[in-house]
Amino acid sequence: MAKKRVLRGRRNFLLGLGTLAGTGALAIASRYWHQSNQMQALADNSRDFPVVGNTPLRNRAAVKGLIYGGATQQYMLASNTAFATSFAQECGMLVPEDELKWRNLRPSPDSFDFTQSDWLAEFASTHNMLFRGHTLVWHAKLPKWFKTTVNRQNAEKFLVKHITTVAGHYAGKIHSWDVVNEAIYPNDGRSDGLRNTPWLKFLGPDYIDIAFRAAAEADPQALLVYNDYSMEYDTPKDEARRTAVLKLLERLKSKGTPVQALGIQAHLWGGEARFNALKLKAFLENVASLGLKIMITELDVTDKKLPKDVKERDRLVAEIYEEYLSVVLDEPAVIAVLTWGLSDRYTWLTEKQPRKDGSPVRPLPLDAQMKRKLVWNAIARAFDSAVQHGN
Ligand code: XIL
Repeated sequence: MAKKRVLRGRRNFLLGLGTLAGTGALAIASRYWHQSNQMQALADNSRDFPVVGNTPLRNRAAVKGLIYGGATQQYMLASNTAFATSFAQECGMLVPEDELKWRNLRPSPDSFDFTQSDWLAEFASTHNMLFRGHTLVWHAKLPKWFKTTVNRQNAEKFLVKHITTVAGHYAGKIHSWDVVNEAIYPNDGRSDGLRNTPWLKFLGPDYIDIAFRAAAEADPQALLVYNDYSMEYDTPKDEARRTAVLKLLERLKSKGTPVQALGIQAHLWGGEARFNALKLKAFLENVASLGLKIMITELDVTDKKLPKDVKERDRLVAEIYEEYLSVVLDEPAVIAVLTWGLSDRYTWLTEKQPRKDGSPVRPLPLDAQMKRKLVWNAIARAFDSAVQHGN
């Protein structure tokens, strides 16, 4: 509670500065703010992110009209009872981490294998959780046969058939679909910032519109999401990506393409002062002003640049969650916070961003033994002090 007031106080101070000073000074002020927070957390070994009661995250979120959930793979739930129990307890939404990607669903050009994703859908329904689709169109995790089979002539047929079949299979059972994932990549040098994916090469920029229309037809009830990464920091790279994402969303909306929400992956980093509350806030407001909802879809924190000491590291990671969520949950258009995993036992960062000292990464709310960490407290506190969200 006290900390929240401090955070709000600091944010208001910065927002106040906004009317007095230029954005350059603000960026510096905000960087300093972040750095000082980090240093304070380093110095303040007693900071323990107090939380009232033991209520799980899904309930704390629900009280505020929000959703909390996580991504998981089928084998994790099926092979680890403690994990499955914690997952059902904490998460109000389940996201299949890999099971709905082309490579997993499409053993051959004319077949679909829903075995694992159906298992997850069943788990979600048994435990009264919402079920989320990730993802219908992505340049990565395509099946081996894709390269030799899909071409300019048949690409639209493959794309529409896939979406119609998969979104159709789960129609009425899905809260939201990441219809298109990671379509922006300014480094590819196009003026529209679009990534040079196989779909773009075959179909041009319209592949995105085609995908959203097919999804809307196959499942009129699901919330249709455009999902992407690297939109959170005050860097030229993220700035270019924010601009390109907004441009894309504006274009889609102006054409009547049925996109209804932006998914912000939010793979955050510890140890670098690149966070700028004002810029993030302005971006969220811009997205909301297009009439779109916002979901935080893949939240975690890479800890490879943080100290080895576990207590200190956990505090710093929790600090990053708290700082980020305090800005995000102030935006009424935000409807959900999802972490990419729940327990440090299972995280893609173990392979993707391992620590140089070899110690296990600790990016998520529960430790490898399913014990709640300070990240859990930080998320709980963020929900507890969040304003009411409408849905
Ligand atoms: C990752 C999964 O976590 C891994 O298991 C898989 O091998 C590769 O993909 N952005 C996304 C997710 O949209 O699909 C990615 O998930 C992480 C980055």
